[in-house]
Amino acid sequence: MHSTSHTNAYAEFLARYPQYRSTFHLDALRAVEYGRLDEHGQIYLDYTGAGLHAASQVREHAELLNAQALGNPHSASPSSSRTTALVEGARRAVLEWFGAEGDYTAIFTANATGALKHVGESYPFSPKGRLLLTADNHNSVNGIREFARQAGTRVSYAPLTVPELRLEMLALEALLAGAEPDAANLFAFPAQSNFTGVKHSLDLIAGAHDRGWDVLLDAAAYVSTNRLILREIQPDFVSISFYKMFGYPTGVGCLLVRNAMLGKLRRPWFAGGTVNFATVGGRRHVLSPGEAGFEDGTLNYFSIAAVGIGLRHLAGAGIDAIHTRVECLTGWLLEQLIAMRHSNGRPMVRIYGPLTTTMRGGIVTMNFYDPDGHLLDYRRVEELAGQQGISLRTGCFCNPGPGETAEGITDEDFAVALARNPDLTLPLFLQMIAHEGGKSAGAIRVSFGIASNFADAQRFLQLAASLRDQTRLTIGETTFDIESCRVIRDGS
Ligand SMILES: Cc1ncc(COP(=O)(O)O)c(C=O)c1O
Repeated sequence: MHSTSHTNAYAEFLARYPQYRSTFHLDALRAVEYGRLDEHGQIYLDYTGAGLHAASQVREHAELLNAQALGNPHSASPSSSRTTALVEGARRAVLEWFGAEGDYTAIFTANATGALKHVGESYPFSPKGRLLLTADNHNSVNGIREFARQAGTRVSYAPLTVPELRLEMLALEALLAGAEPDAANLFAFPAQSNFTGVKHSLDLIAGAHDRGWDVLLDAAAYVSTNRLILREIQPDFVSISFYKMFGYPTGVGCLLVRNAMLGKLRRPWFAGGTVNFATVGGRRHVLSPGEAGFEDGTLNYFSIAAVGIGLRHLAGAGIDAIHTRVECLTGWLLEQLIAMRHSNGRPMVRIYGPLTTTMRGGIVTMNFYDPDGHLLDYRRVEELAGQQGISLRTGCFCNPGPGETAEGITDEDFAVALARNPDLTLPLFLQMIAHEGGKSAGAIRVSFGIASNFADAQRFLQLAASLRDQTRLTIGETTFDIESCRVIRDGS
């Protein structure tokens, strides 16, 4: 039973976002496929961390596995051939989903990170070449800079604007103009920020190509709620984790490589499954062509067999409907949070990134402040959420750039903190910059997905409203000495 205020709020929401009505079939889907959420009163708000699977995906997968004997795909036996057929069927389904058949090669990996590491270790970085990253990137993209550095490649970061945390276009233009004509230049950015939800324009791909860059598009946080057709935008490399798209299976991701680019990659080693031929005596090997040269050892073939099932499920729900629903809920959540005030009129919430749904996806990242403008510790808010069955995400989400930009955290902040406390840990650093500078390197992230509904958004808003007029909270039972940032009392 919904309360009157919930009913009124829902009516107001529908009046504000009438297009939400076109997604009502997702409520029915939630009841049938994601019933475990409401059965246990769980409010799931971390779809960017991981998607949720439909019950039927697991059922269908179990039926598939139980129907036949499936062996290691590296041979020609009947059980092996059946496995190969399943893996190749999944590969075709992936290429088709991303509008990439004929133009791209799909390499199965363990996750998006595995896809990104392939690019890092195989891209022909050289002392003349360049690596250009955006300050908004997951650490699994940031980490590619270490491969570049080892090769003597110059690494640059394109900065973000404040407060929207979008790319600073003039600075980006200047950096893009610096490609080395005779060397390999790689530009890497996320289609959607996993920190702010900002969607970076996919037109950047063509612009970067024109200026002599190869482009790596990290689509891991984008593809669960947005259609992505590679043939239309032609990125050279694309990274994906399937559990983020449809929850199940975990342990499988994909690197999509534009065929014309495949020959440019240089694998640093070979392994079982990746060679046509290898000798011990001659110390020679011939790498397999295409995806096989990148799929080290035995593929996760059982899980890969579930990828096509997941894609069919997403198609049945309708990626455009999911997109619409998530956009409506995001717009509503943003408006309600922005309007929240303490009794003294001061705002309760700071949103990181754009305040509207224009060029932004279903992620809302924020911090709460007390009536005097002091930061409320996000770990305390997470604790409160957990007590109410709400699953959300806190921290910096493995993407340190946007938080550093928004809060003006500098290298000097790190240096000062380290000098004061050589045993510096992230919690202590956070405590230090929060107490002394009112800054927060971390935040609270809410994200929507396929099974999200209005009630989920409202439950989070109720939690937010309960922080009205609260004063600065301590972290559980732990008290810190503000000067030294050492724990002086741990009551837990
Ligand atoms: C934008 C982005 N890129 C890459 C990753 C890494 O994905 P995985 O941990 O599945 O390898 C994530 C995960 O949160 C992400 O959000």
